[in-house]
Amino acid sequence: MEQLDVLLQGEKDLFLLGGGSNMLLVKPIKKLVVHMATKGITVINKDEKFVYVEVQAGENWHEFVMWCVDHNYGGVENLALIPGNVGTSPIQNIGAYGVEVKDTIDHVKAVAIASGEEMVFTNEDCKFGYRSSIFKSEYAGKLILTSVVFRLTHTHHNINDSYGAIRAMLTKDKSIKAIADAVMTIRSGKLPDPKKIGNSGSFFKNPVIPKDDFEKLVKKHSSIPNYPVNGKPEWVKIAAGWLIDQCGLKGYRVGDAGVHKNQALVLVNYGNATGAEILALAHYIQNEVKKNFFISLEMEVNIIGDN
Ligand code: EPU
Repeated sequence: MEQLDVLLQGEKDLFLLGGGSNMLLVKPIKKLVVHMATKGITVINKDEKFVYVEVQAGENWHEFVMWCVDHNYGGVENLALIPGNVGTSPIQNIGAYGVEVKDTIDHVKAVAIASGEEMVFTNEDCKFGYRSSIFKSEYAGKLILTSVVFRLTHTHHNINDSYGAIRAMLTKDKSIKAIADAVMTIRSGKLPDPKKIGNSGSFFKNPVIPKDDFEKLVKKHSSIPNYPVNGKPEWVKIAAGWLIDQCGLKGYRVGDAGVHKNQALVLVNYGNATGAEILALAHYIQNEVKKNFFISLEMEVNIIGDN
């Protein structure tokens, strides 16, 4: 923390780098880059139901999930294999297979860049939404998240097998380890490993559209995957991957920039595509989806240097 204080006094215009897994670099960053590499996982409290675990921002997300599975602490097992670090997990409220990280976060600790003041955000303060939080909106670029305190179960786990493909893989064993194993198998089959081929997971958010528009769409396309939106009965979330796929773009490739062959929501770099080339492909996809479905896709990945 002392090193952080020194840094904040001298330089306020920082670029904060977490795991680097959810960003597309279009131009070089001409700021001081701060990469959080702090480590540590500490049990800070335990009651009858929950264990409270503080995890430093620089811990790798998947390694933390595996630590939880090994200790039989439940809540994050559906989020196995998500790339990135613990410190950035609350920013976009990472989620997969029926679970979002917000479901397990008790509070988040941060330092304000301008003043160096230490701050604590309760779960409610974080204003979590679908792939969003206060750290991505009001406080974007103003804070360094230093640690996250998770509230996990150590007994009577809430096993979430709501995602069909997970349920189909589970035998009688519904342990958190069985869920994590199923998630890892499904992800490895569908999603490219960023260590082998450059990608940032889902490039776009699944769009949320008014129910009236959805009713019209479903008359033409009865198989459109759709999901209810919590607390908003007048809105429906639909699968962006399906929309892109329907435009005939799954496996589409321009030079080294491409749409993944198994999951159209993921853009991949086959080797030497520049950030600008990936971005151009993303814009092309947005136009095609707009043309065919009158729906605007919003990027989920952070585009760096495009202004
Ligand atoms: N689909 C297609 N064609 C495709 C891709 C998908 O028809 O090319 C259909 C699938 O058959 C399925 C539906 O679209 O019926 C949804 O696909 P999938 O289950 O793969 O999930 P997704 O909505 O595309 C979201 C998250 C993923 C997360 C999965 C599983 C977003 C933006 N993405 O993807 O998160 O792993 O659900 O829960 O919400 C990420 O954020 O980087 C990410 C990978």
